[in-house]
Amino acid sequence: MNNVILIGFMGCGKSTIGFRLSYKLRRVLEDTDKLIEKKEGMSVSDIFATKGEAAFRVMETECLRGLLLSQEEKIIATGGGLPVKEENHALLKELGTVVYLRISPKGVWERLKDDTTRPLLQCDNPIMRIEELMAERASVYEACADLIVDVDEKDVEQVVAELLERVAEREERCRSHRSGQEAEK
Ligand code: S3P
Repeated sequence: MNNVILIGFMGCGKSTIGFRLSYKLRRVLEDTDKLIEKKEGMSVSDIFATKGEAAFRVMETECLRGLLLSQEEKIIATGGGLPVKEENHALLKELGTVVYLRISPKGVWERLKDDTTRPLLQCDNPIMRIEELMAERASVYEACADLIVDVDEKDVEQVVAELLERVAEREERCRSHRSGQEAEK
């Protein structure tokens, strides 16, 4: 499938960049957190509080499976922990081009220090938590990604411009690879 899927740590800008991309490419934006909230009729924070993180992770996988049923090419923003579950890697790949928006722990803290909507960061030492989670997840994000775009010190328009250029280059490479294979047949 030919979706563009955005992965990366909380606060890296998946929803904001996704919104801008959907406007530029005239494609629908889906957001796994929002789809889950709509289906469950409650916020992610309330799902964590009442049903627990493990239940939320099951919902994320179900959400990806649901997205695979659509034929429409979309932009898909994902929750920051979604790629951690190995089962989700193949589903992400099947959905399309996976773009990792890479941010530093410092960048996350600058963006999220006043945020109360991320249950995993509502703790005594959120800076340490960000560093721990990032250390656990960085290699997972990298392994899942077809493209990596660094977002620190860049504004939304810069990230979107770089991402569009890199996605177009990749699509072109895939197209010529495919036509090369056809010619060999
Ligand atoms: C989470 C990230 C959140 C949301 C939930 C768990 C995570 O999404 O899915 O709070 O484990 O990193 P964002 O990355 O959109 O903040």
